[in-house]
Amino acid sequence: MNENTLTSVQTIGILGSGQLGRMLAIAAAQLGLRTHIYAPDANTSPAGDIAHRTTTAAYHDNAALAAFAADVDVITSEFENVPAAVMDVLAAICPVSPGRAALYTAQHRIREKTLARELGIATPQFWPVTSADDLKAAMRGHGLPGILKSSSLGYDGKGQVRIKSDDDMDAAFDSLGTDDAILEEIVDFTAEVSFMVARDAIGGISHFPASLNHHRNGILAQSAAPAPLHDEIIAEGMDAVERMAEALELFGLLALEAFTTVDGKLLFNEIAPRPHNSFHWTIEGCATSQFAQLARVLARMPFGATHIYGNWQMDNLLGEDMWKVPELLASAGTHVHLYGKADAKTGRKMGHTNRLLGS
Ligand SMILES: Nc1ncnc2c1ncn2[C@@H]1O[C@H](COP(=O)(O)OP(=O)(O)O)[C@@H](O)[C@H]1O
Ligand SMILES: [Mg+2]
Repeated sequence: MNENTLTSVQTIGILGSGQLGRMLAIAAAQLGLRTHIYAPDANTSPAGDIAHRTTTAAYHDNAALAAFAADVDVITSEFENVPAAVMDVLAAICPVSPGRAALYTAQHRIREKTLARELGIATPQFWPVTSADDLKAAMRGHGLPGILKSSSLGYDGKGQVRIKSDDDMDAAFDSLGTDDAILEEIVDFTAEVSFMVARDAIGGISHFPASLNHHRNGILAQSAAPAPLHDEIIAEGMDAVERMAEALELFGLLALEAFTTVDGKLLFNEIAPRPHNSFHWTIEGCATSQFAQLARVLARMPFGATHIYGNWQMDNLLGEDMWKVPELLASAGTHVHLYGKADAKTGRKMGHTNRLLGS
């Protein structure tokens, strides 16, 4: 532990102003840490509302970035699409999480799947696609329906389209609005599962119990933990996320999403080097939440224990679910988390609930 840990108040800088930054700020506060949010809308945002300080500035404002970095002890990001140039400005002044390699790789679907394969982690079949002709050739070679995704900037199922061999490939390719794309085979999965580790500044690793995930319209709807899958599959996923974190020299949190198949295989889908929606149940369900673990890692404190307290279920509250909130608040044993967002748009993540099953 850094000798200053207990003698001076440390400040964690967070890039991004959404719910992940907000829940990190809450966990940090419990550990006596301060947070400083940097975002274009930091002053009126889920994270900014509860942080010690905010900087409202553009991500390309180098003077504001340098002043922010000088004000904090360590910086992390709640989203992986931080431009490398931004991280370079910050890293010259203070330590940054999750690190350059983790961002570079996690920002790009072809890069993350290529790294997985290099490490011997199985992925669905995929083909880089930079033109409609590439797409036609890949679909001819494959002969089955596929899923075409932009290589970067997609989230919550955005930036992807499912295609069959008799679809109009030119239209499908154009609909992405980018020439940096990936075609994937459609996996007939039996389950979606996610794994998470925290990795500290000296390479120590802490695992969380795995989550079983259910998506609706490409958006995570529900997670259950611990994931009720065979021990071998769980061990394989834990090992995969740990090896990816090591290969990326990660400092912080790494989540790995995967599919399981009928024949008992685990197939890598993607990584996210940050807190992950499928581990929100850890707030009440785990001895240390994903947010508290990240705050500890950033502040050079020891890992907290990560055993689970029974079986937990997390349900996302999207804009269209907000009518349920009064009833949920009145339900004993339901932990309601709201992110303080004013505008309850359809599909927008407004909050979540955590529930201990069988209680
Ligand atoms: N190759 C695939 N086969 C089957 N389903 C997929 C495939 N890729 C994505 N999906 C479905 O779409 C969801 C979102 O895709 P994902 O690649 O995780 O993108 P993101 O979460 O960044 O939007 C996945 O959780 C899964 O339900
Ligand atoms: Mg995903």
